[in-house]
Amino acid sequence: MSSNAAAWLPSPRADLVVGPAALHEPGPGEILIRSRAVAVNPLDDVKQWTGDLMYRWLGYPAVLGEDVAGEVAAVGEGVTRFAVGDRVAAYAVGMERGRRHEAEGAFQLYVVVREDLATPLPDGLSFEQAAVLPLAVSTAATALFQDDQLALRTPTADAAPTGETLVVWGGSTSVGSNAIQLAVAAGYRVITTASPHNESRMRELGAELVVDYREPGAVAAIVSGVGGRPLAGVVAIGAGSGDAAVRIAATAGTRRVALLSPPVAFTTLPRRGGPSIAFLRAMTTIGLSQLATQARARRHGINARFVWGSSLMTSSVGPMLWEEYLPGALAEGRHVCAPAAEIVGEGLESIQHALNLLHAGVSARKLVVRL
Ligand SMILES: NC(=O)c1ccc[n+]([C@@H]2O[C@H](COP(=O)([O-])OP(=O)(O)OC[C@H]3O[C@@H](n4cnc5c(N)ncnc54)[C@H](OP(=O)(O)O)[C@@H]3O)[C@@H](O)[C@H]2O)c1
Repeated sequence: MSSNAAAWLPSPRADLVVGPAALHEPGPGEILIRSRAVAVNPLDDVKQWTGDLMYRWLGYPAVLGEDVAGEVAAVGEGVTRFAVGDRVAAYAVGMERGRRHEAEGAFQLYVVVREDLATPLPDGLSFEQAAVLPLAVSTAATALFQDDQLALRTPTADAAPTGETLVVWGGSTSVGSNAIQLAVAAGYRVITTASPHNESRMRELGAELVVDYREPGAVAAIVSGVGGRPLAGVVAIGAGSGDAAVRIAATAGTRRVALLSPPVAFTTLPRRGGPSIAFLRAMTTIGLSQLATQARARRHGINARFVWGSSLMTSSVGPMLWEEYLPGALAEGRHVCAPAAEIVGEGLESIQHALNLLHAGVSARKLVVRL
């Protein structure tokens, strides 16, 4: 095993800097991965450019990153599902409270991950394409299946139809593409939103009806698509989706809404210079919009809760997803790693470039760096 290096966040609101990093041993129930591909997420951008608004406990320098695919380089005590050399994808949880932050952040060559948040990869699936999966599929599963969220029936290889519909607002996001597939695999009929250029992709993933979320009549079109049949819940993904989701739930008749995004996309905020007028305005909008959404939800007896994608780490959803569902579903092609990966560079130095592109919103695909 050679030496390790990481793309460090040296201080708040700074570019990542590549430098040496300790080579950590995997602990009990953990594996060490030689990373071959990482993807960037809005979460990384938010942490990098909003300072200590989130993940205050991280400290500096920090290693960000959640999505990793590569080969197992070492296994910790008690690991039974993996051996050295296996090809895997994993959800790296180094940013979460109580974890070994430097060892478990994805933006490094050797990353420690939990065995129960990793899946073997079939030979035909590239590391680059697999790297789009971890945070997105984990967040989608948390929203759909966790007891304190929509608590839907879980996916299987041959689920019988439930007779219920799920609305996924934001199906063309990474999280939404996974939510559609998971819900269909659990036997739900899915109605989703996307721009017209993504409609056929949404149908390929299993959505029955696709509505353009920018159309003024989107909420009415979805309610009409539900058609008075039982509605299992609404998943709200994308800036500003919460209010639309609660309106759909109130009209189409469900009490369960899972909120995944703030009312304002943090990526629209200016990057440098600390608190600014734009930042304060965005925070005010977020606060007021959330109050309005919650007030509307309460009026209709709707339980609209914010999803924290990492909470599957400590619930039964984590093992259900990573140990039971994904290995078979990926091997048999029942679950695809969507959206398509766009490889934007090679080497740790390219991760900052990928984050710059994410912030600029230049690509609808998932931005991936080869390592
Ligand atoms: N709560 C959590 O734990 C958690 C975890 C992960 C992500 N998230 C949040 O989930 C959201 C999606 O993240 P992601 O990485 O999956 O996104 P992504 O893959 O970057 O999604 C980009 C796509 O989203 C669609 N979109 C943009 N604005 C939208 C809106 N207002 N409503 C509906 N769709 C919209 C666009 O598709 P079209 O081209 O079809 O317009 C765009 O191409 C973000 O807000 C992110 O912060 C939350």
